[in-house]
Amino acid sequence: MTDVLIVGGGVMGLAIGWRLARAGVETTVLERDVADCDRPSGAWWAAAGMLAPLSEAGFDDPHALAFGRASLDLYPRFAAELEEDAGRSVGLRTEGTVIAAADRDEAAWLRRQWVYHQELGLPTQWMGGDEAREREPHLGPRVPAALFAPTDHQVDSRLLGAALRRAFVARGGVLREGWEASRIDVDGGRAAGVWARPSGAEDGAEERIGARRVLVCAGSWTRLLLADGATATAAPPVRPVKGQLLALEMSPLLTLAHVVRTRRVYLVPREDGRLVVGATSEEAGFDVRMTAGGVLDLLRDSWEVLPGIYDLPLLQTWAGLRPVSRDGLPVLGATPVDGLYLATGHGRNGILLTPATALAMADLLATGRAPDAILPFALSRFG
Ligand code: GLY
Repeated sequence: MTDVLIVGGGVMGLAIGWRLARAGVETTVLERDVADCDRPSGAWWAAAGMLAPLSEAGFDDPHALAFGRASLDLYPRFAAELEEDAGRSVGLRTEGTVIAAADRDEAAWLRRQWVYHQELGLPTQWMGGDEAREREPHLGPRVPAALFAPTDHQVDSRLLGAALRRAFVARGGVLREGWEASRIDVDGGRAAGVWARPSGAEDGAEERIGARRVLVCAGSWTRLLLADGATATAAPPVRPVKGQLLALEMSPLLTLAHVVRTRRVYLVPREDGRLVVGATSEEAGFDVRMTAGGVLDLLRDSWEVLPGIYDLPLLQTWAGLRPVSRDGLPVLGATPVDGLYLATGHGRNGILLTPATALAMADLLATGRAPDAILPFALSRFG
């Protein structure tokens, strides 16, 4: 019997587990992939790792913006503590983000964004085309304008995942990789553990893992796990939204100094010389195959603002599934089933929201009280 059993060892599950383990709470994380598998299925592995509450801000989600900015503020300390526990870097970079317009239409869209940011007192700066090229010299000659978001940064999401795995175990957490949860064990109306089996094994190989509390951080798969029987009332309206990405190899002649994005695409330069380009946004169920159209869109939209990418070697392509809720906001906290909790639905901002989610959820599980920061994200808002 463990105190807290977390289903899902992506960055969200591991980060909450790590904070709990640091606080002395006996915690087990169940993860269906193994660490050295070629392509983990979690959204964190596919993510470009932008920490971009300003450039991702919509016009109608003040709660998302506030939570995102709070999480960004937490990042430096969160990363430092994590790197200390894990003994390895998470690749946090703080050069800011350039949001470029590919044409006049996009410049008009950027202008509206900027005016909105000004009204909110955000530190975004307007740049004409020449000023934008001074800041990021590889922007093409036809870029008419850009914004600079000086506080929108990036972290290497795969390094983050690896560091969390190590830090969680170093702090005494139990990580059961290669184990897949098949259903929550509910006893007398209360979550009492999870039925699980080795990934890919038949039903007969099931084992019950007992727990005092169960937290489901299974991303896009959360709803499938909870939809039937005694946990149906806890199943959040969360679906997968596919993103296709690719990596180019930067050259000494073309190395970006900032994250660069447009309305449709983003390019994230990594320390190891890769330039991560993402991402499509597709309603494709659980299909993670790459498509010709997806790659075409990513390359064409990137090339429009950064023509120099034409000659860069293409290293890799991959796709992942963002867990997106009905209203696009995370689903965090308790459920109608006693002892059963959720942390999912982070959509486009899972990497950004990891520190704030981890601290708030660990607090909730340790004290039984939900911090104010996560009240707007309760499952009960869906009725
Ligand atoms: N964070 C950007 C995306 O989900 O594509």
